[in-house]
Amino acid sequence: MIINPVLTVREKHYKLYLGNPIIVTAPGRINLIGEHTDYNDGFVLPAAIDKSITFAISRNKSDRFRFYSFDFDESFQTTDLNLKNAPQWVYYLIGVIAQFKKLDIDIAGIDCVFGGNIPIGAGLSSSAALECGFAAGINKLFNCKLTNYQLVKMAQTAEHEYAGVMCGIMDQFASVYGKKDHVFRLDCRSHDYNYFPLKMDKYVIALVNTKVEHELASSEYNLRRKECEAGVAILKNDRPNISSLRDVDHALLVSNRDNIDPTIYNRCSYVVSENQRVIDACEALDKSDFEEFGKLMYQSHEGLRKKYQVSCKELDILVKGTIDIECVLGSRMMGGGFGGCTINLIKRGFESDFENEISHIYKKETGIDPDFYFVNLSDGVSVMS
Ligand code: GLA
Repeated sequence: MIINPVLTVREKHYKLYLGNPIIVTAPGRINLIGEHTDYNDGFVLPAAIDKSITFAISRNKSDRFRFYSFDFDESFQTTDLNLKNAPQWVYYLIGVIAQFKKLDIDIAGIDCVFGGNIPIGAGLSSSAALECGFAAGINKLFNCKLTNYQLVKMAQTAEHEYAGVMCGIMDQFASVYGKKDHVFRLDCRSHDYNYFPLKMDKYVIALVNTKVEHELASSEYNLRRKECEAGVAILKNDRPNISSLRDVDHALLVSNRDNIDPTIYNRCSYVVSENQRVIDACEALDKSDFEEFGKLMYQSHEGLRKKYQVSCKELDILVKGTIDIECVLGSRMMGGGFGGCTINLIKRGFESDFENEISHIYKKETGIDPDFYFVNLSDGVSVMS
């Protein structure tokens, strides 16, 4: 774990490349509610967190891309964007470079050292932070003058093309547009967003890491996306002007029940309900009604578990384990699913009780000691010269 990230990446950059780099920091994200809604043109409620990746990036005078990852203690260099058999983390960086090249921006010769404290594979979007931070760094170094929105879209496309995950826009948007002490509701159709201050004097956001990562996660993710599209295709026969599940309500779904495969029906039904939950959750936030907010979190988990089927045994144990713990207002799986973290809203001052009780339950049932992160909401990507 890096203690002083800026100093550490700067020093390492100097040792490896003798360069004079710019420093970029890109955060991971949480999502309070609105899961698997982003690629359905729906609503999400994410925030950037105080876990991030720090980069030291400079231009070199060659056509060579040289990288060093602290987390993997691994170096890599190439001049070629058509890589085979490179370490996984390299593809995110190369994927970003490829997006700049597509815009005919002549990107060559980069030295980049990066590292941070976003746990990998925990569903906190370390990959989006990697893409967004690197994109922001290139934007500055090569004076490309691209907007934040363009950088978000390029980072998302890098994930599609180089990691093979057909993700929505939430993770990259959160890493760039995050704001300290705020969550934001993002309309994933128009990309309009509204910040909500999260007054956390009485509450804490606790993430619990299952420490499991299922192989199936990315293929199941892409499958869910296809299932939603299949649902829309059928519903279009009835209502030709719809283009995504965002345009669908329960009445339309129910009246088409006999035409839709039951699994697809459940996927669609979950998404329609989850979109409404994001709207309800924002109303609850406006009223500082955290009890109501917590209930919506539990409902979201139930939908993800039963209808969307992206939870797993370990996530369910963690969520179920909170039900009888008094200090917990809400709990649910977060992110793509099949492992990673749960997000929990708990009363401030009860952090260690929560940790003790959940550790005990989880260890007893799985043999694993879970990790806990009590996170604060932070600003998005920042670039320092
Ligand atoms: C992953 C994806 C996001 C989003 C979530 C589920 O984190 O990258 O785009 O779809 O899963 O809400």
